[in-house]
Amino acid sequence: MGAGPAGLMLSHLLHLQGIESIVIETRSRDYVEHRVRAGVLEQPTVDLMHEIGLGKRLAAEGLTHEGIALRFRGHSHRIDFADLTGSAITVYGQQEVVKDLIAARLEAGLPLHFDVEQVTATDIDSSRPRVQFSVDGTAQTLEADVVAGCDGFHGVCRTTIEKALTFFEHTYPFAWLGILARTHPSSKELVYASHDNGFALHSMRGPDVTRQYLQVAPDEDIDRWPDERIWQELGTRLHDGDGFELEIGEIFDKGVTPMRSFVAEPMQSGRLFLVGDAAHIVPPTGAKGMNLAIADACVLSHAIGAFCATGSDEQLDEYTANCLRRVWRAEQFSAFMTALLHRPQDQDPFERRLQLAHLDYVTSSRAAAMSLAENYVGLPLVTPWAFNG
Ligand code: FAD
Ligand code: PHB
Repeated sequence: MGAGPAGLMLSHLLHLQGIESIVIETRSRDYVEHRVRAGVLEQPTVDLMHEIGLGKRLAAEGLTHEGIALRFRGHSHRIDFADLTGSAITVYGQQEVVKDLIAARLEAGLPLHFDVEQVTATDIDSSRPRVQFSVDGTAQTLEADVVAGCDGFHGVCRTTIEKALTFFEHTYPFAWLGILARTHPSSKELVYASHDNGFALHSMRGPDVTRQYLQVAPDEDIDRWPDERIWQELGTRLHDGDGFELEIGEIFDKGVTPMRSFVAEPMQSGRLFLVGDAAHIVPPTGAKGMNLAIADACVLSHAIGAFCATGSDEQLDEYTANCLRRVWRAEQFSAFMTALLHRPQDQDPFERRLQLAHLDYVTSSRAAAMSLAENYVGLPLVTPWAFNG
């Protein structure tokens, strides 16, 4: 259930193992292919795209970055991923990953239903769970071995099994105002800035489009942010004394995203398995959300593969345990990056000094920089073929 990165990757990995699946999605194809979301692929996600035969456009259009800049007190400090980890990240929009997966599925003639309505999952405690939905006004029922709830944070799957779950949650006292603008990137690599006015991020989607963010209040009214104010504030927060010039252009997308940390445990009940944002949310500062959704899909595809091959539930039963270690690692790293770079409104001068001392440390100690870099570029994925040798 859901044709985001989690659902589409899971169905593709099942297909590669010869296992049938049906994907249903409440939104239109156009909507999911154009929704502006994540932009950073960890190295293991990039490797996976190549391993599953979908790396061609990524190789041509993705931007490989061997480091990021942390900017504070008006100066940039590079974290060199290549030197510290031998690895890199790739800037490639989430909607491009989604487009590649949808194209592969449709090309292979496999079922993918957009614009479905009235979706429910029932009988999940039996060995034949069901999914009901309607498409073009006609009611349908699917019977399956397994239902994968890949329907995002606001989907119905988590609610269906909520009695079996415990939630761990934290909301942050700020949000991100994100823009897409027709400008060349002002820096070759991503810039994470911690300014006295708050956090700013300079990112990109290609040679002619930038994606940039500003820390704002959680209940921020976007109407209070005309384009000129956004450019002015980005200029202030991203300023460095080393010649950085922020390029200004047409803003063609603007939105405010709240920031939260959230984990549901366990990530399963009966034969319903939660994958990706349906089970957990991270604040975007660590660029982990989509990568984590894809990591879950790898674990579940392996477990379903083992179930189909042997009839044993053993790997399905282990699904939560096999996901949670990575989930909590990403939760910790994302919370760490968020605390390192943002300024809560009530932050006192002492806390600001501590924050700057921490920034000094991660940009001057090789050990601390390596820890940040190792987490940022991503841990190895557990793919079905790695499991099966
Ligand atoms: P989703 O992408 O939310 O997909 C769920 C799908 O299910 C949707 O298409 C939805 O329409 C559909 N659906 C909902 N209900 C139903 C239903 N009842 N039945 C069927 N379908 C349903 N992550 C990163 O890794 N790196 C980043 O740089 C990054 N930056 C981000 C920046 C922003 C501003 C935001 C908002 C997020 C960012 N993320 C980032 C997070 C990332 O976008 C998500 O973690 C990712 O989309 C999760 O994928 P998913 O497939 O689990 O969920
Ligand atoms: C993005 O390009 O959208 C992006 C990059 C890095 C982040 C979050 C979002 O940490």
